[in-house]
Amino acid sequence: APLKIAVVPGDGIGVEVMPYGVQCLKTVASIFDIPLQFESFDFASCDYYQKHGAMMPDDWKKTLLPFDAIYFGAVGMPDIVPDDVSLWGSLLKFRREFDQYINLRPCRLMPGVRCPLAGRKPGDIDFWIVRENTEGEYSSIGGKIFEGTDRETVIQETVMTRVGVDRVLRYAFELAQSRPRKRLTSATKSNGISITMPYWDTRVVEMAKNYPDVALDKYHIDILTAHFVQKPNMFDVIVGSNLFGDILSDLGPACTGTIGIAPSGNINPDGKFPSLFEPVHGSAPDIAGKGLANPVGMIWAGQMMLEHFGYKDAAAVMLKAIENVLARSEPDVVTRDMGGNGTTKSFGEAVAGEIASL
Ligand code: NAI
Ligand code: MG
Repeated sequence: APLKIAVVPGDGIGVEVMPYGVQCLKTVASIFDIPLQFESFDFASCDYYQKHGAMMPDDWKKTLLPFDAIYFGAVGMPDIVPDDVSLWGSLLKFRREFDQYINLRPCRLMPGVRCPLAGRKPGDIDFWIVRENTEGEYSSIGGKIFEGTDRETVIQETVMTRVGVDRVLRYAFELAQSRPRKRLTSATKSNGISITMPYWDTRVVEMAKNYPDVALDKYHIDILTAHFVQKPNMFDVIVGSNLFGDILSDLGPACTGTIGIAPSGNINPDGKFPSLFEPVHGSAPDIAGKGLANPVGMIWAGQMMLEHFGYKDAAAVMLKAIENVLARSEPDVVTRDMGGNGTTKSFGEAVAGEIASL
């Protein structure tokens, strides 16, 4: 049976980089004989909102449920629709209602990319961040009392369930076990946060019993952010709660260069719902419509999708093609954010061409 991919370009540069993501996937699929089937949707965009008064149709869930994955561009046009409306009306619905409880991001220093950390070369930084994506600090439990008085008080609860914590830890241990270094780092703050974080630590220790071959350590989130910058080569897989994972998963890609190349996966490992693959960047209204967006984040997200489907060889070829084009960084090919004067088209077609030549 074909693998059905829902293509949701969204807004701004999401629409501009998507065609090259699809082109690269089609190229690799034809070489490896992978039965990918694409279908495009115009919802989850501010254009759609302007026409229909909502970001998505009421039956979006029924429409997307039969797909094996969602390939997502970016959403947001803050001059037209407030960001909280566009984000909560689309991407956050996908993540929550499709129970995409893993947010996965590679942090890898690629050849040809200027590293903001001094003295680092490709190979020095190569790790994965696994963020819990459904509970934790981002709960909607809490409230406000004595509003407008000097006793004004706000409370927001952190929710950790055994099921929720264990499933993200299991995923992270499995990922660590699959890698040569077999090393897992847990982000915590059990010195300051005295109920939920010690619970997290306890579940980590409990889960570790199933993975005796994985080397485990833990750091409080404050010193961990310092290590990201000062000793990024010590990491292999890092697991964190929703908030800590959120922070680390922006810091990590920032330590490896331009936001334009970073991908991410929102994964439902049970396969009950489609997983979603997207570039880390947003819709970039400041450069939208000019053909200047770096397409590599979108293409690399497609590579993660192939990996997720289990096509390891095809995924490896795609990653190699990205690496080769970045390593060459020809000024007429790569985009401005990488110091070139190329366009989305020149960059995207170079990667597709490289895939075909490998
Ligand atoms: P952004 O990622 O869109 O842009 C930040 C900066 O990076 C801008 O200067 C932009 O030009 C540059 N940039 C981003 N991607 C690039 C690429 N591929 N090539 C070259 N340069 C690139 O983040 P910002 O400006 O905070 O948000 C803009 C809109 O995107 C907002 O509406 C926001 O809500 C939305 N957004 C959506 C996300 C998503 O769909 N997952 C994630 C982040 C923001
Ligand atoms: Mg974030």
